[in-house]
Amino acid sequence: MKHKDFVSIHDYSAQEIAEIFALAKEMKADRNKFSNALRGKTLGMIFEKSSTRTRVSFEVGMFQMGGHALFLSSRDIQLGRGETIYDSAKVLSRYLDGIMARTFAHKTVTELAEYASIPIINGLTDLLHPCQAMTDYFTAFEKFGDLRGRKLAYVGDGNNMAHSLMYGAPKVGMDIAVATPAGYGPDLEVLARAEEDARSAGTRLIVTRSIDEAVKDADVVETDVWTSMGQEAETAKREKDFSGWQVDKRLMSLARNDAVFMHCLPAHRGEEVSAEVIDSPQSVIYDEAENRLHVQKAIMHTLMAGRGR
Ligand code: CP
Ligand code: NVA
Repeated sequence: MKHKDFVSIHDYSAQEIAEIFALAKEMKADRNKFSNALRGKTLGMIFEKSSTRTRVSFEVGMFQMGGHALFLSSRDIQLGRGETIYDSAKVLSRYLDGIMARTFAHKTVTELAEYASIPIINGLTDLLHPCQAMTDYFTAFEKFGDLRGRKLAYVGDGNNMAHSLMYGAPKVGMDIAVATPAGYGPDLEVLARAEEDARSAGTRLIVTRSIDEAVKDADVVETDVWTSMGQEAETAKREKDFSGWQVDKRLMSLARNDAVFMHCLPAHRGEEVSAEVIDSPQSVIYDEAENRLHVQKAIMHTLMAGRGR
């Protein structure tokens, strides 16, 4: 594969995504098969924000492939005290074999990718969460097989999850409907690019204010928190603006009978989703969480195996 980095699903072709899924499936089936694939390699994990799944799954993933992962909190490294991204990228490239970064500004990750000579993997920015969206489509692929012609409904904030799901849908041949309250729609540049991707893939992308329209006949219904990391000051306003935007049993009844419910987690039961739905047999939240490990191992293997510094 020609890529150095994994920053956005938009940069990858449908064929490349399919290859990553095939590798993830193989890795999930036999954990030992790849136990030496990244022997002697080290992944640096830069975190400006909290994390459970991303931190643990990347660290365990490196360990399972014979490598090592290094947790680098921005509170402790000089990047957090104003050392430039340029110098940080150049210096870290001399020690590490790859970097996973979770940041506020998306630009921090794109600049790391530009200046580092080693692979940069986006572990979530304010704009995108590509590892999670990849995992969600992989989880849907496990459940349904061929995803072409199927529909994912995303209900809630037009945030990093919405954006990466919008980029991912055309790559796996799925239609996507995104329902958000007024004022919380997706980023217009992301929307324009995703529309272009959908046009060339022959899939549908709908952005609507109607949760019922979005969820009707969906195979996957997904939501996310109303207040993302970094938006805590807006919590009260968002709770008001999102009232009525809960994925509940009534809404799920509009989806197909065999539809699954997804949420990247962490979740707030009683806010964006009712406990009845997230804890129901339709919910695949823990499969999603597990699959972060397998999909990210496949991404790391694709970018880092066989790559000398
Ligand atoms: N879904 C997800 O990225 O979880 P963490 O914030 O725990 O990493
Ligand atoms: N949209 C959420 C996702 C958390 C994994 C956030 O950015 O906080």
